[in-house]
Amino acid sequence: MLIPHSEIPFLDYSLSQRDKPAFIAQLRDKFINGGFVYLEKGPVPTEVIDKMVDATTKFFALPPEAKDACDMNRVAHFNGYLRKGPAENPTREQFNYGDENITLEEGSPEYHKIHGSTPWPDDALFPGCRAAMAEYYKHLKTLAMEFTGFVSEALGLAPDALDQLLESDVSKRQLRCKLLCYPTCPPSTTGFVPHTDSNFLTYLLQPSEQLGLEFQKPSGEWVGAPPIRGTYIVFVGIVLQKITHGLVKAPLHRVVSPTQGTRYSVGFFQGVSMDTKVAEAAAKFQFPQEVLDMKRAREEREGESTKEYVFTEADHLPAGEVVLNFKLKAHPLVAYKFYPNLFPKFHPDGLPAKYANAVH
Ligand SMILES: [Fe+2]
Repeated sequence: MLIPHSEIPFLDYSLSQRDKPAFIAQLRDKFINGGFVYLEKGPVPTEVIDKMVDATTKFFALPPEAKDACDMNRVAHFNGYLRKGPAENPTREQFNYGDENITLEEGSPEYHKIHGSTPWPDDALFPGCRAAMAEYYKHLKTLAMEFTGFVSEALGLAPDALDQLLESDVSKRQLRCKLLCYPTCPPSTTGFVPHTDSNFLTYLLQPSEQLGLEFQKPSGEWVGAPPIRGTYIVFVGIVLQKITHGLVKAPLHRVVSPTQGTRYSVGFFQGVSMDTKVAEAAAKFQFPQEVLDMKRAREEREGESTKEYVFTEADHLPAGEVVLNFKLKAHPLVAYKFYPNLFPKFHPDGLPAKYANAVH
């Protein structure tokens, strides 16, 4: 079942210019009560989005050997190409990229290496596409910073209150763009398992008509979030949930692969500074009663627990270290090649046999 059109949480970005208090009130309501919005009439020019979509489809149409040349295991920064499932019948392909030319300061912790260069396809195979992706990334970075100010106000904080989590050094902000391709699969094939995004905020573009993204309602029912041209789905991530003590909640979502045609999506992931410790950051914010009352009303309506938010051990670590730990576990070959000191901690039995040929 799809979300009925009348229940889609649209948020008109142009309202932020015309009637900011109304815009902030709508954002507050939709984030507290659902955890995501369909952002429409946003500031990114249509031409920039169209070129990005064109580049995305062209990337995944490259010959397999050209995509494999961009393998994520080639760099330390978790950028590049990744395929789920066998080469002849993948269930999902993805390509990640982020800020280039990041220089590490001497003595930087290992987790500062999580962002850096990307193994790009040969320009001759991919004319103009890298530039289109860089242009899109630049616009999304601007949107993300502006939108963070609005989120801050929606939570009842000063417009710049959340900026301290993002710091001025862009290289530490944990921004990443992820292109996704879900090829045709048999019915009910999982494209992306149920999860909440672990970052701060996600800006998702769904450029193809294929359905697939689903959110779980408080009742447990899964509902489809249809692609709507000219919109981004902006959703709350776990870090924002934790920093607000659950005032806003990261929605559980999944992707079911299409049975006809190919589904593409483009996610822009906004994290907090690598050095931010989530539990410490959370202690800095006091939310007004009016906003806390909205949370309480949601909890009563949805039968949620109202217990005090409990932080885990990881919440006391720098956010970048938490991300690195997760990624080292998920990408054994990157851990083996680029993080030899940390490799044994996450892979005490050594490198899985399937990578044997990759390291000789
Ligand atoms: Fe996600």
